[in-house]
Amino acid sequence: MIRIDTVTKRYPDGTVAVDRLSLEIPDRSITVLVGPSGCGKTTTLRMINRMVEPSEGSILLDGVDIREQPVNSLRRSMGYVIQNAGLFQHRTIVDNIATVPRLLGWGRQKSRARAVELMERVGLDSALAKRYPYQLSGGQQQRVGVARALAADPPVLLMDEPFSAVDPVVRKGLQDELLRLQEELGKTIVFVTHDIDEAIKLGTTVAVLRAGGRLAQYAPPAELLTAPADAFVEDFLGTDRGIRRLSFFGTAGLELKTSPIVAVDATAEEAAARPGGDVHYLLVTDRDGRPLGWSEPAALTAGAVDAGRLLPHGRPFEYGVESLRAALDCAVLSPTGWAVAVDGTGRAVGVVSQQTIGEAIRTAHAEGRRTEAGADARTGDDAGSAAGTDAKVAG
Ligand SMILES: Nc1ncnc2c1ncn2[C@@H]1O[C@H](COP(=O)(O)OP(=O)(O)O)[C@@H](O)[C@H]1O
Ligand SMILES: [Mg+2]
Repeated sequence: MIRIDTVTKRYPDGTVAVDRLSLEIPDRSITVLVGPSGCGKTTTLRMINRMVEPSEGSILLDGVDIREQPVNSLRRSMGYVIQNAGLFQHRTIVDNIATVPRLLGWGRQKSRARAVELMERVGLDSALAKRYPYQLSGGQQQRVGVARALAADPPVLLMDEPFSAVDPVVRKGLQDELLRLQEELGKTIVFVTHDIDEAIKLGTTVAVLRAGGRLAQYAPPAELLTAPADAFVEDFLGTDRGIRRLSFFGTAGLELKTSPIVAVDATAEEAAARPGGDVHYLLVTDRDGRPLGWSEPAALTAGAVDAGRLLPHGRPFEYGVESLRAALDCAVLSPTGWAVAVDGTGRAVGVVSQQTIGEAIRTAHAEGRRTEAGADARTGDDAGSAAGTDAKVAG
């Protein structure tokens, strides 16, 4: 574990970049430092690998003050990734990635083999190995930066706005890739960003910093969204935090209705036997149970289904896998106001109304509040998991 203990950094010109910061950074998780430009994120990260020395306070790695460790071995235990990757422009991709193994005296052959292995790990075609950085896209260069930082298999990864310079689509891909890599590798990652959405997506725990390098809040993302510590954090989170928070609630408990589902080859009598009630539409599926569209009951009982006349069912959500946010989105976009739930193979398992989703949201919020009331806010207990989700689910 990395422990930052009451650390202050005052630069020679008097600028206080970090002000009495204390953080416990747990092993094998992603801790995100987020805040506006100039709030001391980079300074904090660089104090962890001693590129910057604190003016006051101390930083402990597994209980030992980092000042008591040789700086070379400290840095070797911490991969470092920066914006624009910071690659050596005159070296090929494979040689860039092999930089640290070569410094460690691994030998050319072994270093290159490791580099090629890592290219695959981070989703790069090994055909790019002999290219130079300028021959790669921004997203590919960033992947090389991550591969290079991982080359000597350090337990810690320090990442300073690594994805800030690439376009939103590439950025999403890099974020997903990092989460996948982290599942495989289990590094202790300290990730700096000024983008709160990125912080919420990637962070196990998020430290929000404000101008002057002061800590505003340190909490798991779901807790930040539920209970921002003050007006600054609330403002920083943006206006739709209620909707975003729904990403942390699962759909496994949603009550689905199956009676409105009819197969396209159902007889008119079967269709007529479907209950009315609050369901004014039937979901027509193909013979395998995959949704085709919505129909008014009367249109079905009149005879054969005209697939061309069905109302579109929109994007369904995967039941129990996707979040309440996804389910709500499906219902809001559905022409009938009902969302279609499917299993992993795309077969319809039920339909659910906006109203039922609304009830589930209220229940989840109430459970979340109850749990928070009984929990110590600083223990790092994930309010999201306590509120009935096993893991963060993609919105
Ligand atoms: N070497 C330096 N000398 C003087 N002031 C610095 C130096 N590096 C950063 N600062 C100042 O310290 C503050 C925090 O900087 P930094 O850690 O880079 O913030 P962030 O990464 O959050 O944008 C800023 O006001 C910045 O201008
Ligand atoms: Mg910075």
